Amino acid sequence: MEIKNQQYQIQGIALTDLAKRYGTPLYVYDGQKILDQVKLLQDAFSDVKLRIKYATKALSNINILKLVKKAGTGVDAVSIEEVKLCLHAGFQPQEIMYTPNSVSFEEIQEAVDLGVMINIDNIPMLEHFGTYYGHQVPVCIRLNPHILAGGNAKISVGHIDSKFGISILQLKHVLKVVEAYDLQVVGLHVHTGSDILDADVFLKGAEILFDAAKEFKGLKFLDFGGGFKVAYKPGDIATDIKEVGVKVSQAFKDFCKEYGSELEIWFEPGKFLVSECGYLLVKVNVIKATPASTFVGVDSGLNHLIRPMMYDAYHDVVNISRLEGPERVYTVVGYICETDTIAADRKLKEVQEGDILAIKNAGAYGFSMSSNYNSRLRPAEVLILNGEAYLIRERETFDDILKHQIDIGL
Ligand code: LLP
Repeated sequence: MEIKNQQYQIQGIALTDLAKRYGTPLYVYDGQKILDQVKLLQDAFSDVKLRIKYATKALSNINILKLVKKAGTGVDAVSIEEVKLCLHAGFQPQEIMYTPNSVSFEEIQEAVDLGVMINIDNIPMLEHFGTYYGHQVPVCIRLNPHILAGGNAKISVGHIDSKFGISILQLKHVLKVVEAYDLQVVGLHVHTGSDILDADVFLKGAEILFDAAKEFKGLKFLDFGGGFKVAYKPGDIATDIKEVGVKVSQAFKDFCKEYGSELEIWFEPGKFLVSECGYLLVKVNVIKATPASTFVGVDSGLNHLIRPMMYDAYHDVVNISRLEGPERVYTVVGYICETDTIAADRKLKEVQEGDILAIKNAGAYGFSMSSNYNSRLRPAEVLILNGEAYLIRERETFDDILKHQIDIGL
């Protein structure tokens, strides 16, 4: 988003015009930003065999999936539905990594039948996999490296108390299972968490994975998950992707030499690719001054963007209806019957009823975590590409609220 001709614009399109044309609340994505992020990552790992597996769950509109596919990525899916969505969007089964947690073996079998790579994250499922498929179907194993990293406790998943992955301390047990069933292990995986700033955390994860990898024959790839941090606050620092690229690529090349074959290196970024491309446009319904603060009540809330409430996440907010004039301090709140504070004590250009606010970093885990709570409708989504705005999801209607309810005639 940039200011041009006294307007906040993306690729020459005024965001206030989009709000007028499609209504609010509205998710808007800058397609070029996504392509730029893919390129940054590709460039950072240009001298190793990089495969990007975009984390579908971050933003799963099929047009976004098609866009990242065009840019050369594969995908990581975490449910059978995401697997099907990726296939629907045109990914080949071999471009899809399926990383489930706590799913039934039937769901894993369904994914095997669809031809995707399975990433197993617990020993019982590995045994089922062995019993059923033995050496026939290649498989990846998700290890938990016991690294405490990530923006907050809810998104730190590589520590010892996490439900994800097989503990690195259980490696011997894993190796026994692999041997007993003659499993064809082609990949190993770690994902330590989200919002990881420090390049050395990725390096630490890599070193743990290298040590484990030496115990396996015939590996084709190592997958380091996602978790690169993007800037949320003005002036925030983000993961230095070039530094991660240099450090991890070098360590990876050294490992490959020792291992005796040139493996692929996989990453599964979500936020890095799609967080900053997204804006949630909301309209100001009411300005309510209390003795303590001035609330700006908008036509959205935790039902559309749950991150501030769920993770205390900071999302920058801009009043895109006003470029001039004084600033005042406001607390932006939603219309949900909960304390759904979107942004507390923020300086905004003086707000008036009907103004449009843009909530930034709304691309990742925005729409994809939205709900119909309070029987509210989910917003429309617009993708801007090559200077054109495309409606990529219609706003829900009241019929959607009733769609799956069964009136038993009481
Ligand atoms: N790979 C695996 C196995 C994951 O579990 C995740 C995220 C990713 C990749 C992508 O992580 P990213 O690059 O987006 O940080 N809803 C939370 C984030 C939860 C992430 C869950 N797993 C949030 O809005 O902060």
